[in-house]
Amino acid sequence: MGDPETGLSQLDRFVYGTMRLDALEQTQATELLCTLLQAGVRRFHSSDEYASFGLFARSLAGACGQTGVDPASLRHVVKLASPHFDEHHFDAVAVRDRLERYATALGAPCIAQVQWMARIDLKDEPARLALLEKEGPAIAAAAADLRKGGLIEEFGCFPYTVDFAKAAIQTGAFDVFIDYYNPWERDAEAYADMLKTSGISFMALRPFAAGKGFEEGRSVADLLDFAEGHPTLDGVIAGTNFAENFRSIQRALGRFV
Ligand SMILES: NC(=O)c1ccc[n+]([C@@H]2O[C@H](COP(=O)([O-])OP(=O)(O)OC[C@H]3O[C@@H](n4cnc5c(N)ncnc54)[C@H](OP(=O)(O)O)[C@@H]3O)[C@@H](O)[C@H]2O)c1
Repeated sequence: MGDPETGLSQLDRFVYGTMRLDALEQTQATELLCTLLQAGVRRFHSSDEYASFGLFARSLAGACGQTGVDPASLRHVVKLASPHFDEHHFDAVAVRDRLERYATALGAPCIAQVQWMARIDLKDEPARLALLEKEGPAIAAAAADLRKGGLIEEFGCFPYTVDFAKAAIQTGAFDVFIDYYNPWERDAEAYADMLKTSGISFMALRPFAAGKGFEEGRSVADLLDFAEGHPTLDGVIAGTNFAENFRSIQRALGRFV
C-alpha cells in the first residue's frame, strides 16, 4: 500500500544486499528470496566479485520461478570497476561487456543502477583524481550511451574518498552516488549538499554498519532514521540472512510511508 502524499510504498527504499548470502545453502537462500519477493522487495545489490554472486543468481531465478515474479521486473544495483586495480584508464567497451554479462546472469534486460568505481591504486589519490580530470568527459559520454541504449537506467559512483566524490559530481556523469552511510561512517555528509544542488540521488550502503549498530545498542528503526536524514536518499542497501530480521526492517521502513 502506498502513501498518497509521498507516492512511496513500504519497501521502495529497501535494496537487499546480497554480499553475505553465501552463508546459506541454496535452498535456504531461495526460501529467503521467496520471502523477500512475496513481501514486495524488488531491488537487489550484487557484485560478481562477491563469493555469493553465483548462489544469488541461481537462488533468485529459483525464487522468481516459485513466486511468479518476473525477473525482468527487478531493479538491480551492480558493482564494477574501470579502471580496476593496476589499470589506468576507463574502458567503455569493457564496461558495456561486463554490464551485458550482469544482465544475462540476473535475467534482467536492464541494470537499474551501476555502482562504478575507479580503483587504479587506492593509495594513489592523485592518479584517481587525474583520471576524472582527463577521462571525465569520456566517462560521461559512455554513461549517456548506456542510458540511451537502455542497458542501464542510472550511472552511479562509489567514490572511496570525499575529494573524489566532489570532483566526480562536477563531471556531470552521475545520476546517483552510492556510499557507506551510518552513524560511524559519515563521509557522505561532506558532499550531501553538492548532491542536493546537482539533483543527484544517494544510496546508503550498510546502514547497520555491518551489524556494529546493533552491538552498540541501536535499533533497526534508529539506524534507518539516520539514513533517512540524508537529503537525497533514494535507497538503503542492507543485508540479512534471516526472514525474521527482514521483517523487522520492513516494519521499521513502514514508518516512513
Ligand atoms: N564497497 C561496497 O560496495 C560494499 C561494501 C559493503 C557492503 N556492500 C553491500 O551492502 C550490503 C549490506 O552490507 P553489510 O551486510 O556489510 O551491512 P549492513 O546491511 O549494515 O548490516 C548487515 C548485518 O546486520 C545484521 N542485521 C540485519 N538486519 C538485522 C536485524 N533486523 N536485527 C539484527 N541484525 C540484523 C545482519 O545479520 P543477520 O544476517 O544475522 O540478520 C548483518 O550481520 C551488502 O550485502 C552488499 O551488498 C557493498
